[in-house]
Amino acid sequence: MAKLYGKTALITGAAAGLGKGIAEVYAKYGAQLCLFDLDESVNDLKEELLKQYPDAAIITYVGNVAKFDDLKKAVSQSVEAFGGLDIICANAGVCRLAPFEEMSDEVRDLHIDVNIKGVWNTCKAAIPELLKRGKGAIVIASSVTGDLVADAGETAYALSKAALVGLTKALAVEYADRHIRVNCSQLGYARTPMVEKMAIETNPDNPEAVIDDIAKAVPLKRLAKPQEVGELFAFLGSDEASYITGGQFVIDGGSTLPETVSMGTK
Ligand SMILES: NC(=O)c1ccc[n+]([C@@H]2O[C@H](COP(=O)([O-])OP(=O)(O)OC[C@H]3O[C@@H](n4cnc5c(N)ncnc54)[C@H](O)[C@@H]3O)[C@@H](O)[C@H]2O)c1
Repeated sequence: MAKLYGKTALITGAAAGLGKGIAEVYAKYGAQLCLFDLDESVNDLKEELLKQYPDAAIITYVGNVAKFDDLKKAVSQSVEAFGGLDIICANAGVCRLAPFEEMSDEVRDLHIDVNIKGVWNTCKAAIPELLKRGKGAIVIASSVTGDLVADAGETAYALSKAALVGLTKALAVEYADRHIRVNCSQLGYARTPMVEKMAIETNPDNPEAVIDDIAKAVPLKRLAKPQEVGELFAFLGSDEASYITGGQFVIDGGSTLPETVSMGTK
């Protein structure tokens, strides 16, 4: 039986990039889905998935994770459609690059509002339904950025993603005795609209060179595919991960491994 059969999952930021990859993998494993995104193209993803998985049960919600009421409504609609909620994939996030001294307060606050408060809102709106079920799983999209590494221009992003590691651990310990597991992913780089925009901000004349250089520096010599991240989210959301909570899972093709680029023999 598919490992997420009978489970209902809410996935934020589902219209593109990693969220789309997570949605594809969750549909493959038989989950009932509420796909949440700011962008109306989330409805196109629903149609795409239904073509591939005609028996899938999918609803969509066009909303903003920075607005608690949007999450409350999406949770209510999921419960109405599917009778409850089992898994939360708090994936929606933003990244804007700028030198620290030039980064406006508005850009800083965008990261706080979407990346931190957005995940906070998602968990706060959904946890009452997980409690009613008597168990549940939350998977949060943090990053290697902030907690482990950082590139120049990422101060607001790094601040927000490191905060999610703390949120993961605090929620995990608070809800462990009520059988809600909380884990986070720490992804290196996947090729998504976000990373393509970052490459343009880094080198407007040759963004492809930025992507190529990222791949060269990764021991596995490529960026992640969104579906590979989806597989991690599916495992952490499933009962196969029943003894795993409070964890931070690096998925980076080895990008945080090398100690130097010059030393060593093989
Ligand atoms: N792509 C990477 O290499 C990478 C690496 C580490 C962590 N992450 C994290 O993974 C998550 C997804 O990244 P991605 O690369 O797929 O991004 P993306 O920009 O390619 O896609 C993000 C999706 O989220 C939606 N979204 C943005 N703001 C929203 C909001 N306020 N409310 C609802 N939906 C919103 C967008 O419309 C889009 O569909 C983010 O949290 C990001 O920080 C990505």
